[in-house]
Amino acid sequence: MKPVRIGVLGLGTVGGGSVNVLKRNAEEIARRAGRDIIVTRASARSLDRERICDTTGIELTTDPFNVVNADDVDVVLELIGGETIAKDLVLQAIANGKHVVTANKALIALHGNEIFAKASEQGVMILFEAAVAGGIPIIKAIREGLSGNQIEWLAGIINGTGNFILTEMRDKGRDFADVLAEAQALGYAEADPTFDVEGIDAAHKLTILASIAFGIPLQFEKAFTEGITAITREDVQYAEELGYRIKHLGIARKTEQGIELRVHPTLIPERRLLANVDGVMNAVLVNADAVGPTLYYGAGAGAEATASAVVADVVDVVRAMTSDPENRVPHLAFQADAIKDIPVLESEQLTTAYYLRLTAEDKPGVLADVSRFLANHNISIEALIQKEPEQGESSLSVIMLTQLTQEKEMNAAIAEIEALSTISGNVSRIRLETLK
Ligand code: HSE
Repeated sequence: MKPVRIGVLGLGTVGGGSVNVLKRNAEEIARRAGRDIIVTRASARSLDRERICDTTGIELTTDPFNVVNADDVDVVLELIGGETIAKDLVLQAIANGKHVVTANKALIALHGNEIFAKASEQGVMILFEAAVAGGIPIIKAIREGLSGNQIEWLAGIINGTGNFILTEMRDKGRDFADVLAEAQALGYAEADPTFDVEGIDAAHKLTILASIAFGIPLQFEKAFTEGITAITREDVQYAEELGYRIKHLGIARKTEQGIELRVHPTLIPERRLLANVDGVMNAVLVNADAVGPTLYYGAGAGAEATASAVVADVVDVVRAMTSDPENRVPHLAFQADAIKDIPVLESEQLTTAYYLRLTAEDKPGVLADVSRFLANHNISIEALIQKEPEQGESSLSVIMLTQLTQEKEMNAAIAEIEALSTISGNVSRIRLETLK
């Protein structure tokens, strides 16, 4: 059989890593796919740059449309990322009848519904394993491995850069900006690293996971997103005193009222496996009705870890190329006509427990006031610690853990507490999940 010809868009961290893996493991990959797979063309912004991959035998261009329109390309790897030109390139590849493998989470989360519809019309495949959690085959696990289950919820550390920063800050007391610069140098961070630290990248990935878990359309705009920039060393330390770790989690949960879709720093019990996922590693915990909890762990970013997912998708495309499009695995795990528009809940409808930290005057009755406001909103306190004032200070830190409540009730209680003359500054809140 003739080899399958690959065109690569982008020769940066993921593109370069994918070329390397395809070349180095060509023989093993061909034994799995049933055909040789060769890279015929690639595009890059500049042809003079030093690269992490050997481009011998590959026709290079600075115009990615040359790759997408080339007759000697059967499968396009879109590894440019971002939202600028990637969508046009993918749509052009589809129009040309080419299959696409992409690592672009923003593209899928924002435009996936449209892209999949066009791909289905053309009978081509769009695979995107590398878009979520780097090298972990989480899309395949949910879409295929768990297809007998009703998925109840999933929670994951799905941004390697953010987890690397939180880990280094906690373990080595390093400065936020310093660790972020290292994550950028290692090729972990997004082109715009605010996507990592503000939770946007994780929300893209969570949007994709929720769609394939629950069979709902991709709805990035409805995800609640909070980043890690407001986490202080004190919060990390107080959380540990209470037996918790702070992790930046993406959580998707199916409730009777609708789907919770949220990314935020989260206190989780330190004995949970997820609490011990450190550095650039990612992990996703999926709770499903038949199998119960399953946990998937691995490198969440980096050249070859991400390439591992890209190449696995290439092998899947090659194996299914000659199959009837009707009988292929659906893009979003559920058949396109069975996708259900289950509502995604507003942030005020979310139900969670909380860690609260507030600065209070060291006077009788202050804590009674705070407790009363919480009680008025049916919020029960689970634990409370009070830190003695520093020498010469008249205010003290109070840290509380609450039981489950609706975000709406917590918003109202916090507004009332912050209005007290005995409370200074804002009340810090971090959501808490037991992940039982
Ligand atoms: N910037 C992303 C991360 C890359 O740090 O997780 C992998 O998607």
